[in-house]
Amino acid sequence: MKNLILAIESSCDDSSIAIINKNTYECVFYRKISQENEHSKYGGVVPELAARLHTQALPKILDECKIYFDNLCAIAVTNEPGLSVSLIGGICMAKMLALSLDLPLIAVNHLKGHIFSLFLKEQIQTDMGILLVSGGHTMVLFVDQQGKMIELARTSDDSFGESFDKVAKMMGLGYPGGAVVEKLAKKASDVVLEFSIPLLHSKELNFSFSGLKNQVRLEILKEELTDYKKSHIAYAFQKSAILHIMHKLTKIFKKYHFKRFGIVGGASANLTLRNQVELLCKEYMCELLLAPLEYCSDNALMIARAACDAYERKDFVDISQELINPKVQNLQGLL
Ligand code: KG4
Ligand code: ZN
Repeated sequence: MKNLILAIESSCDDSSIAIINKNTYECVFYRKISQENEHSKYGGVVPELAARLHTQALPKILDECKIYFDNLCAIAVTNEPGLSVSLIGGICMAKMLALSLDLPLIAVNHLKGHIFSLFLKEQIQTDMGILLVSGGHTMVLFVDQQGKMIELARTSDDSFGESFDKVAKMMGLGYPGGAVVEKLAKKASDVVLEFSIPLLHSKELNFSFSGLKNQVRLEILKEELTDYKKSHIAYAFQKSAILHIMHKLTKIFKKYHFKRFGIVGGASANLTLRNQVELLCKEYMCELLLAPLEYCSDNALMIARAACDAYERKDFVDISQELINPKVQNLQGLL
């Protein structure tokens, strides 16, 4: 039976391929090769290096899943947003596969893919609020009953995940910074340091993390950066960054009475953030949707799952079409 969809994700620094059954969503193959170690010494993703590593990793993974080729019914690929030099590796491979296996091609928006990480094994739900926190984006969305996406807030500068990465870089902790800073924050024994919460007295719903990052920079310059100091900076930074998110989210919850609310994106793996949003959802009697921790960060499984719905709609793209779109300003429909 030709009922498997092969999906490729290479929008940033993870090379990943997944193959799932389009009817049952059962995963028959999943692999991800992360480039984190290679980028770590630079404190961030180096685009040229990312592109080169994708061209090494993707063919290697593809080789491992050749046995499923006879049962494929479509090829899917992340085409936007992301680093163009990274996206192109996945797109070229997807086009080559679609052409040589004579299969339809599906282009998947990476941010929508993250939303599908909430529904890896089940039917998609709509009528929900979404907090998307990743390295490239921080936004709150409302997905209405018909699947139309309305942006309620976004960051006006750095993203939530990016601010963790930059704080980690300033303290020489490598890349990515999210998990490292979260772990380090747990070591802080008492509250010796506090950073102010961004935009606390502003009525607007948008986020901003660059001022908080600057507070961290100035604190680092003050005195020698001991391990004790690093853990307290991590603690105080994480606390303010999350309080900032929660402050704006509370305003948004008051205004929009969500039936359900999901947190997605790489930084949704942050347990303190998850706990805080869980409390907010309880207070507003709203169902909380979380992705499995393993699939919060970039992965091809969420892309494959999004592609199953696109396949049902016969939402295919032409192989000769230019698919790359590094920046997406307007998210329209999820479905
Ligand atoms: O979604 P993702 O894998 O890539 C993008 O689409 O950008 O998100 C990666 C981002 C990185 O900035 C990383 O530092 C952040 O997610 N992140 C975290 C945590 N785990 C990953 N940020 C805060 N706390 C975490 N535990
Ligand atoms: Zn992502």
